[in-house]
Amino acid sequence: MWKNLFAWLDERLGLNDLYKGILDRPEPRGNWWKTLGSASLFLFVMQAVTGIFLTVYYTPSPDHAYDSIQYIMNGVAFGWLIRGIHHWGASLMVLVVFIHMIRVFVTASYKYPRELTWMLGVGLLICTLGMGFTGYLLPWNQKAYWATTVGTSIAGTVPWVGPIIEKALRGGQELSALTLSRFFSAHIWIFPAILIALIGAHLYLIIKHGESQFPEKGD
Ligand code: HEM
Repeated sequence: MWKNLFAWLDERLGLNDLYKGILDRPEPRGNWWKTLGSASLFLFVMQAVTGIFLTVYYTPSPDHAYDSIQYIMNGVAFGWLIRGIHHWGASLMVLVVFIHMIRVFVTASYKYPRELTWMLGVGLLICTLGMGFTGYLLPWNQKAYWATTVGTSIAGTVPWVGPIIEKALRGGQELSALTLSRFFSAHIWIFPAILIALIGAHLYLIIKHGESQFPEKGD
């Protein structure tokens, strides 16, 4: 019965071709350093899943943000666990993406024909940092408030356009409800949408070019 169902779907969706195109490729020469891209992908998915659970109870308004997090920690079943994973996963993702980039640099895997894979990677790194920056404000506690005050002030020191960037980030001169809703929207919609698009293109190029070989003596 399952065989027939699969054959029916395969005829209409081309599942076998999809499998051959995406997954049925020669095994790259194994090395732990080469697992860091997949580890970054895993962490992204984990952050997305735990983040979606957090939005069930989190409220992005100055009156309720702090209390909603207290409720997640103390009132919701396993809320502390979901938040803990999301909190530590965020730092881990920045670290793992960064080490992945270092390994690509050290093995010179950014060279022809993978220059675009690298450039998309730079976008991925910026968005990953953007996720960290916007997420940090969401608990709306003292640390979050003042860290974002400092962070947005630093953006304000850019020559010429600094004050405009600072005002745009804060939604005014000071941090307010507008800043919180802006950061929330960037954190759950804008950055994730860009990340998904960039990851899709990044993976397409990795499948297209195959993985680079580690340089050997005399290469
Ligand atoms: C969310 C962040 C990222 C994800 C999910 C991701 C995912 C991946 C995956 C799954 C691979 C194949 C496995 C591997 O070689 O480790 C890979 C390879 C690659 N990544 Fe990333 N990556 C990310 C960030 C970056 C960054 C920041 C850079 C550089 C600026 C970068 C540049 C590359 C390059 C050039 C390759 C090809 C390496 C080769 O063929 O040896 N990636 N990435």
